[in-house]
Amino acid sequence: MILVTGGAGFIGSNFVLDWIEATGEPVLNLDALTYAGNLRNLASLQGDPRHVFVQGDICDRALLDRLFAEHRPRAVLHFAAESHVDRSIHGPGAFMRTNVEGTFTLLEAARQHWAALPADKKAAFRFHHVSTDEVYGSLAPDAPAFTEIHPYEPNSPYSASKAASDHLVRAWHHTYGLPVVTTNCSNNYGPYHFPEKLIPLLIVNALAGKPLPVYGDGQQVRDWLYVGDHCSAIRAVLANGRLGETYNIGGWNEQANIDIVHTVCKLLDELRPDPAGPYKRLITFVTDRPGHDRRYAIDARKIERELGWRPAETFASGIRKTLQWYLANADWVAEVQSGSYRDWVAQNYAARAPGA
Ligand code: NAD
Ligand code: DAU
Repeated sequence: MILVTGGAGFIGSNFVLDWIEATGEPVLNLDALTYAGNLRNLASLQGDPRHVFVQGDICDRALLDRLFAEHRPRAVLHFAAESHVDRSIHGPGAFMRTNVEGTFTLLEAARQHWAALPADKKAAFRFHHVSTDEVYGSLAPDAPAFTEIHPYEPNSPYSASKAASDHLVRAWHHTYGLPVVTTNCSNNYGPYHFPEKLIPLLIVNALAGKPLPVYGDGQQVRDWLYVGDHCSAIRAVLANGRLGETYNIGGWNEQANIDIVHTVCKLLDELRPDPAGPYKRLITFVTDRPGHDRRYAIDARKIERELGWRPAETFASGIRKTLQWYLANADWVAEVQSGSYRDWVAQNYAARAPGA
């Protein structure tokens, strides 16, 4: 079996569902169920013996040792993290703990397990670290896209903590020989995306007739990838990625935030027209994110050249699927907008003056 950390979050739960469907191999899913973890994402696996869920913290070394000893996973897929930039600005401590200390603790537990394996199993073992393009910092408008050798220039507490975790993973390979691979992916979107991030926030706010907050001038550029394509890329790297290497994953789909907002509004006008008028009437420019990175862009040629991976979805097909999923899953949307979600929205948006 494989050990997945953070498998109840957005990408982790998509990965667990995708993995079991694609391979049938059992998953040991370790997740602390923070505000971002949601077992409802995995409801379709209820009663399936191929999914073993453990609620626990990647900083808990004793728990990790017990899980490695009992389940003897052949690989670790490390998704667990604090992942939201705005939350890292309000409270960086949790990011240092989970992303840095948690990755360190997991590496040490994995190393102890791996070191005691017989030679064939030792050679086959993998530690796959799931990381982000944000570690590379911000690009000028005409600069070439990030390659795997782009310097690390993280600008937010979140990206700094992910950069630190990438460095730990690299060092555990170089110093101890732990068989690692790291992937650095661009912005994901798709089902089960928690509505604190741009695309799901736009969808749930629009459907509720609430303002669609656009930070600053809305001209920040991101590369957007459908989450199912991220999952297939991770499977490709886990299977055939070269040890100690990093692979960038992206959608060849750079877009300014304001264009994303207009696309979501237009599609909603088509799929769920609002009698009050076009959704774009709700667009509200608000105070920018401090230290906001202007542009990310991913050069994903290495993973294509070495592993033959390319995204299957275009943005047009992926965003349509995503909107249809949110419209068909009103219960999920209602459930995640709990008291703590409303507290976060109040904290993040109350101080952002409209029109700023
Ligand atoms: P998420 O915030 O939706 O989910 C994170 C999951 O980790 C949650 O289920 C949470 O309960 C769990 N978790 C948090 N702290 C934990 C701890 N101490 N111990 C165990 N579990 C813990 O995040 P996501 O968007 O699914 O991102 C998953 C990974 O992919 C992260 O490492 C993130 O940096 C990376 N990534 C995300 C994106 C993106 O667009 N969302 C893009 C590139 C890379
Ligand atoms: O690039 C990969 C990263 O993508 C991942 O590592 C992160 O985990 C993930 O959260 C995401 O980070 P971003 O900061 O790019 O995502 P977010 O959805 O928070 O914001 C996307 C863009 O939209 C960003 O430029 C900020 C802007 N934005 C965001 C929100 C929540 C707004 O304009 N308004 C908003 O209300």
